[in-house]
Amino acid sequence: MAQDNGQPGSTDKNKNKKLWGGRFAGTTAASVEAFTESISYDWRLYRHDIQGSMAHARMLARQGLISEQERDAILKGLAEIESEIEQDRFTFRPELEDIHMNIEKALTEKVGAAGEKLHTARSRNDQVALDIRLYLRDEGRVLDELLAGVQKSFVRLARRYLGAVMPGYTHLQRAQPVLLSHHLLAYYEMFGRDRGRVADCVRRLAVMPLGAAAMAGTGLPIDRRFVARELGFDEITANSMDTSGDRDFAMEMLFCLTVIQLHLSRLAEELVLWSSKEFEFIDIGDRYCTGSSIMPQKKNPDIPELIRGKTGRVAGALVALLMTVKGLPMTYNRDLQEDKEQLFDALDTVKASLSITAELLDNTTFRTDRLAEATRGGFMTATDLADYLVKKNMPFRQAHGVVGRIVAHCQERDVEIDELELDELRQFSDLIEEDVFEVLSVEGSVNSRVSEGGTARVRVEEALERAERQLGMT
Ligand code: ARG
Repeated sequence: MAQDNGQPGSTDKNKNKKLWGGRFAGTTAASVEAFTESISYDWRLYRHDIQGSMAHARMLARQGLISEQERDAILKGLAEIESEIEQDRFTFRPELEDIHMNIEKALTEKVGAAGEKLHTARSRNDQVALDIRLYLRDEGRVLDELLAGVQKSFVRLARRYLGAVMPGYTHLQRAQPVLLSHHLLAYYEMFGRDRGRVADCVRRLAVMPLGAAAMAGTGLPIDRRFVARELGFDEITANSMDTSGDRDFAMEMLFCLTVIQLHLSRLAEELVLWSSKEFEFIDIGDRYCTGSSIMPQKKNPDIPELIRGKTGRVAGALVALLMTVKGLPMTYNRDLQEDKEQLFDALDTVKASLSITAELLDNTTFRTDRLAEATRGGFMTATDLADYLVKKNMPFRQAHGVVGRIVAHCQERDVEIDELELDELRQFSDLIEEDVFEVLSVEGSVNSRVSEGGTARVRVEEALERAERQLGMT
């Protein structure tokens, strides 16, 4: 390795020299430095960069590529740098481009030649691939906790309001009565799938890339599997070229984040509607709403609106990275540096949205009187009447027709089906008997839906207990 008497970085001549400056005459244009730097945002990877470098240094010593003294100097230097960054005592230098070179340069300034040996058998291409994987593996855990937090808020609400009825909607038209808890537990399922998706993504990305070097591998006698074990990865990547150009894991995480934010956005839309005068299904606590600067009476649901609004930004991050990767030739291309800002911004946005959503739900009360009232007046038990006729052996299509005619009759007279006399009902089908009125009640309708996954109280209680068990709430 080219060195200046074992003291590189410490002489004036080398002070402003790039780590890759050997073949270059003079300095880089300031405009180029400003345009190409990534340290302004990739500094966030410092902990994972250091974690990866420590494992790499241990491997180099084990393989006899550096001495044990050199390894110890590197480990000590890296630990110092980590605490300097943590305590805000580290100066990031934009002319050193990225987090990898900022740390390497600081290390060399601290420990001399040993620091210069750290990059043996490594390229920034496999280094950055490792750092992002380590970073996302940790973020995966944070996301899982936040998602579980939102699920818990839903489960608490579902428990609290067990028994309350409300209209279930399709096409935002009243369709069939359901339990409010059933509606709330639908979100429990959605965020549960999100947790599964993030876990799958992390499982796939937890593959150790170091050793791919620039893209062709290395001739030096490294031990990739040792590094993998040190970092808690079960596997190493299989193809050095793929390793250096692959950002599937970043795209996949952005997709997971987009789906989470979409789920939050659908919830947000319901909260906005439900808190309006038109619905009046919920009250959001004053501390979680804001007022208008001109209309004194206003109480606005800004939190759900912003969550809904931020969805464009998260989906935009996904699309931005997809388009960045499109058309890239094998293997690493500098374009890939664009992955990080998208990931960081999407992660920040989704984490903040999840955390505020849990708080918001904990500060929301449901108006069960209004929900029950809304189950009246939409012929929502019409399907139950059709099923009633089916149970009496009428073919479903005929039953559909009979009930359709009954609904038309009720609309003309401006009454609900259960307000008709039995005789009146029997004019449409003599299969209708006194027991029909059980079927026509909202409670009767809800509790008849006992199919697995249905809204009957017995089924919802089971689902609620399962959810509480899964979340360790009992
Ligand atoms: N800052 C770069 C990135 O984020 C690190 C890898 C640079 N590799 C290189 N050959 N220029 O992608």
